[in-house]
Amino acid sequence: MSTWGRFFSMETSLRYRKNSLWMDGVSLRAIARAVGTPAYVYSARLVRERFLRFDRELRGCERLICYAMKANSNRALCGLLADLGAGAEVVSGGELRRALAAGFEARRVVFSGVGKTEEEIRRALRARILSIHLESAEEMARVAAVARGGRGPADISIRVNPGIEAGAHPHVATGRSGDKFGVPVTQAIEMYRRAFKDRRLRPVGIHCHLGSQITRVEPYARALRVISGILARIKTWGRRLDFVDLGGGMGIACGKNKIAGRRGTLLPRGARPGQELPLESLAENIREFARAWPRTKIILEPGRYLVADAGVLLTSVLYRKRMEGRTFAVVDAGMNDLARPALYGAAHPIAPASRPGRRRVALDVAGPVCESADVFGRRYRLPQPSPGEIWAILEAGAYGFSMSSQYNSRPRAAEILVEGGEFRVVRRRESWEDLVRLEKRYGEEK
Ligand SMILES: Cc1ncc(COP(=O)(O)O)c(C=O)c1O
Repeated sequence: MSTWGRFFSMETSLRYRKNSLWMDGVSLRAIARAVGTPAYVYSARLVRERFLRFDRELRGCERLICYAMKANSNRALCGLLADLGAGAEVVSGGELRRALAAGFEARRVVFSGVGKTEEEIRRALRARILSIHLESAEEMARVAAVARGGRGPADISIRVNPGIEAGAHPHVATGRSGDKFGVPVTQAIEMYRRAFKDRRLRPVGIHCHLGSQITRVEPYARALRVISGILARIKTWGRRLDFVDLGGGMGIACGKNKIAGRRGTLLPRGARPGQELPLESLAENIREFARAWPRTKIILEPGRYLVADAGVLLTSVLYRKRMEGRTFAVVDAGMNDLARPALYGAAHPIAPASRPGRRRVALDVAGPVCESADVFGRRYRLPQPSPGEIWAILEAGAYGFSMSSQYNSRPRAAEILVEGGEFRVVRRRESWEDLVRLEKRYGEEK
């Protein structure tokens, strides 16, 4: 492979060839023809490369990468990561069920979340996962009670909220004081003190997650200092923990052009491309920490970093609509398929699946859902579209399908995995029938 080829393969799975946009040797138009739209399409190769790169950066420390399944819990995608040796971070009994079904080893699964039910705790204990990450003193009491009479103590960690502003969007910032996640340092220490004396509990680690789409290393470095302080305190009791779980949140270069060989923005007007978190520098901080705490394993929980760039959402243009100086392109994917623009104001690049010419027009791209928030972005610079044309909404591999819903009674999209020059449906499109399958008609007996 040429140097350029290698460069592109690290960065992207997309390139224009023969007038069409291709993902790893498969034409996206061909996929849209075969399975229809909206459809999520994922590059298995890019997920694999992102994981291996992440893992490589951390060489030299004892580590476990627990993929945050909330980013994309498709079983095929998760299975691919499990095969590479990843663990999983789950936040519900449903995700635990999916993790085990996808092939993640139970001893590589950690369970976070502020509101675990008794049933979820019971299932986690029965599966003998690596750790239940506790988010409150009351939850600790609940886990201890459920573990009583079980097959030994519950392996637990405490999620500390270090009170750090990491620069994430307010909806996804989790490590500031006042956020609902974890417990403050003094409370964490008190909980460890009690947990070490409780025979129903076995403290195995410490957990911290600062938020999502973090692009600076400094908040992680600060969190490691806070954690060091807690470990030092625990050491004074003659105790230690097996691992430190620093959470996820590693940011990607949102909006950077990720189509091989192309220049220029694919973002709507006003949106600026972002910077990726410098992984090497994060890894350097982690190595320094590991030198101070040599027998302590490091766990990281990347979600977005591993899968965001690997996915696109294919959509068809339905209509053009001109009014009051604006042109809307109405597409068949909506906020029920990809909620991030409506939820966080996220700007996703859009690329036509047919190679665009030089002429561009300013388009507001809107979905069909009956909400004014159902707009992917204003003033994209795109070629004049014709109905039926296929577009790819990029960076849609994370928090895309997993956040999708049937809002407006719209069946959820199909999911496709591209690998080895072929594509495969890894979740079929929901049917109209699926929409009503679980419900009863008024007056219906059974
Ligand atoms: C506890 C925990 N770990 C990991 C993640 C993954 O975050 P990201 O996808 O930004 O890496 C999240 C996201 O919300 C989380 O809550």
